[in-house]
Amino acid sequence: MKSYRPWRENYLVFGSPYIGEEEKAEVLACIDSHWLGSGPRVQRLEEEFRKYVGAPLAVAVNSCTAALHLSLRELHLEPAAEVITTAMTFCASANAIVHAGLKPVFADCDRRTMNIDPAEIARKITPRTRALLPIHFAGRPCDMKPILEMAERYSLRIVEDCAHAIESTYDGRHCGTFGDYGCFSFYVTKNMTTAEGGMVVSRDERSSNRIKMMALHGMSVDAWRRFSDQGYVHYQVLEPGFKYNLTDLAASLGLHQLARIEKLFPLRQRLWDFYHKELADLPLILPAPVPENMRHGLHLFTCLVDDRRTKVTRDEVLRGMHDLRIGCGVHYTALHLQPYYRDTFGYQAGDLPNVEYIGARTFSIPFSAALSEEDASDVVKGLKTILG
Ligand SMILES: Cc1ncc(COP(=O)(O)O)c(C=O)c1O
Repeated sequence: MKSYRPWRENYLVFGSPYIGEEEKAEVLACIDSHWLGSGPRVQRLEEEFRKYVGAPLAVAVNSCTAALHLSLRELHLEPAAEVITTAMTFCASANAIVHAGLKPVFADCDRRTMNIDPAEIARKITPRTRALLPIHFAGRPCDMKPILEMAERYSLRIVEDCAHAIESTYDGRHCGTFGDYGCFSFYVTKNMTTAEGGMVVSRDERSSNRIKMMALHGMSVDAWRRFSDQGYVHYQVLEPGFKYNLTDLAASLGLHQLARIEKLFPLRQRLWDFYHKELADLPLILPAPVPENMRHGLHLFTCLVDDRRTKVTRDEVLRGMHDLRIGCGVHYTALHLQPYYRDTFGYQAGDLPNVEYIGARTFSIPFSAALSEEDASDVVKGLKTILG
């Protein structure tokens, strides 16, 4: 197997976050306040995030996985009701469906946009279908118009997986505000981070309050109020909830990450354009052009190795880039062929040709606002060395 000699001194970490002095100062201030758990900073982050995406309500949680789980539970569907999603996603999207006692049904994606194909959703609808879970893959909005029309026609609920789509809009409206719930991730590699964290945005006050309650043990009074300077308040356990609350320590990062998010967007746009220009002649299929009515959130820069033009495989690219001290990701291999989903739901190779085509060829290159121009040039140089 071919190996490559690196020229970089340090390893270029995939998805390294951009953390500023403001975050560091806020974390220290939070520590000095002696209030590290869920409290005023979480409340501020909920309010700021709600305003940023233009949603009526927002509840902070400790991951997008938790956000998806609580949202799906809050649909109050009958056991094993079918939820259509795509297998071109991270396992958390489908795991949350299973944890909510529901059945994930995978529809194929579009080969170019990598998003769920509305025509394939239509093919998967049965009398047991109750909800749709579209994923705005890599930050590119799904085609929401036909998805909303289908939901209307068949009375389906919608939970949007916006893990990649913090800045994404469709027809001028923020992703996450089309469905009943929009679930965001603030994981370390995301466009804004709280190390681990997430948010559920929604419209219905009653269910938003229930999500908040279920994120903290199903208790009637949240921790902040229990222990605040207003004196101890007794709580009631109204349901067996979960431990999904975000901490103030985490929100300390999030507040400044969110405040900076639109300033970093043009940096990633520049990087996006740079990669498109510099990689155009390599045997790669680059991200599809973005229509006028969408704002791509620019979360991942995913490339497919074009096996019609090279004998180098995706895994050889991954290994070669690693040799060159450049970290890459894979988003994603086909989820329906992972052992649990294959064996439990009876999927097999050939069921979702586009997901499988992408899953066998895709890799993601470092694409963070924290990248220097030199880092970005190294990524291009690395790919040219391996594929040129
Ligand atoms: C599409 C998608 N959905 C959900 C998640 C889960 O996010 P979290 O790590 O915040 O639980 C991820 C995480 O990477 C993701 O990529």
